[in-house]
Amino acid sequence: MKTRTARNRIGHRAAKSSRLSSNGNGRVQAKTQKPAVSSQVRDWLSKPRHNLVGGKWVPAVSHKTFDVFNPAEASVIARVPDSDKEDINRAVTAARRAFESGSWRRLTASERGKLIWRIGDLILEHADELAEIESLDNGKPRAVARVADIPLAADLFHYMAGWATKIEGTTIPISVPYAPGAHFHAFTLREPIGVVGQIIPWNFPLLMAAWKLGPALATGNCIVIKPAEQTPLSALRLGELILEAGIPEGVVNIVTGFGETAGAALAAHPEVDKVAFTGSTEVGKLIVKAAAGNLKKVSLELGGKSPNIVFKDVADLDTAIAGAANAIFFNHGQCCCAGSRLMVERDIFDEVVEGVAEHAKKIKLGPGLSADTQMGPLVSEEQLSRVTNYMHQGKQSGACYVTGGSRAGDRGYFVQPTVVKDVKPTMSIVREEIFGPVVVAEPFTKPEELVARANQTEYGLAAGIWTRDISKAHRIAAELKAGTVWINCYNVFDAALPFGGYKQSGWGREMGHEVLELYTQTKAVVIGL
Ligand code: NAI
Ligand code: MG
Repeated sequence: MKTRTARNRIGHRAAKSSRLSSNGNGRVQAKTQKPAVSSQVRDWLSKPRHNLVGGKWVPAVSHKTFDVFNPAEASVIARVPDSDKEDINRAVTAARRAFESGSWRRLTASERGKLIWRIGDLILEHADELAEIESLDNGKPRAVARVADIPLAADLFHYMAGWATKIEGTTIPISVPYAPGAHFHAFTLREPIGVVGQIIPWNFPLLMAAWKLGPALATGNCIVIKPAEQTPLSALRLGELILEAGIPEGVVNIVTGFGETAGAALAAHPEVDKVAFTGSTEVGKLIVKAAAGNLKKVSLELGGKSPNIVFKDVADLDTAIAGAANAIFFNHGQCCCAGSRLMVERDIFDEVVEGVAEHAKKIKLGPGLSADTQMGPLVSEEQLSRVTNYMHQGKQSGACYVTGGSRAGDRGYFVQPTVVKDVKPTMSIVREEIFGPVVVAEPFTKPEELVARANQTEYGLAAGIWTRDISKAHRIAAELKAGTVWINCYNVFDAALPFGGYKQSGWGREMGHEVLELYTQTKAVVIGL
């Protein structure tokens, strides 16, 4: 688990930081030109950053702050409040006041929808700036943030804005056998839950904030959100846009801080009615325990170890190979749904594994802000050490590394895109979530055994199937214990499509109309006529 110690270690590295670019062969080279940060973002970063509480930007009560790093250089780019229990108390109080005042939930649904829509518009108006902040803070290529993270975040708000006017109850014909001859009119109302605590991770910082905030706002809740300590910046910029959009004060409160302090205080807070969490399964279990105090509602989006299955009857092998590479290497493998177990029908196993390895070797590593970068660094020194440890364990246990297998360069948090074969189901690299660009490839011969093997994991977030046989695809999709199954594609997301996990990958679904269930409670009203 990340701690201040881990961050301090990163701080020591800052002195040794270098300028990085890549030669496209899983190696990172020193380069003379450091990619330029725009003057707009530089100005924004140079100003003190505070928490958003009750519509005001305020420092932590303790006035403590912590460093925010650019993982490509291990350099400090900002400092943000190191918030604690008291900051969470104040933010929850502000959210409670806003909720009880009705300033948000009693707006007409149409007015609420328009304000949420405006957030989406403002994100698009500031897309370049947000992509740059995201890239600097998280390490992902700016171009990827610009075409994926930022427009998806805007689209989520636009999609949820439409739902504000469509949260409907039902009328129910009731019979009441013990009251013969009596007449009733019965109906349901769907009401907001109240004050919602949201704890989000660092892999898609702005997008995860959007996934959480959009539905909570559409349904009339008030919110305290804690971004990940590794990547708090885009959420703080979003907070400014939320105020600019005209969301009333106290409806969205943003508190930066570490998980063990600010996050734990939010999950346990007796005045928080619901907690929504995305992150590790380990911390998800802690959230459940913390929520027991006041039995707050809980939704969880957790880890994964998703199988991506390639049959020999695939329509176009090159497309499947490119798809398998994208399934694992997108976002540097830092995706909960990464296709990290590549299962390939024996006859084409070598060809597919070689093909994915060829893709891996061509990926250009470098800082996110460089125009030709295809894969940036991992987010933190902690993740670098976690991922390289797994690589080491795989080697120790006798797996064969087709390509990659180590850190790339000796500065920044870069690792080589890695393809591993000759693995056994007991190996940690096969069972556990690595959360880096590391795929384990296994051949299969009998389709009947395939499903059992694909499901042989404590997770159940996603799966991929590549085949031209449509009935086989349907049959297997139905058998896979996964919240999302992609057939002849991978990593396809949409605000309208529910996303979430079976088994230990989580509770509940985000996005789509299903997420509205997580942010509303049903009231049955009965009128005697
Ligand atoms: P994490 O689960 O510790 O962090 C996610 C969020 O939870 C952060 O905002 C963090 O501050 C908060 N948090 C941490 N401890 C908490 C606590 N006791 N109470 C309340 N909130 C707490 O994940 P971490 O350490 O950053 O990454 C570890 C592993 O977790 C990764 O290697 C990956 O396997 C998995 N992970 C999965 C994600 C997903 O999208 N499902 C996202 C990030 C990490
Ligand atoms: Mg952690």
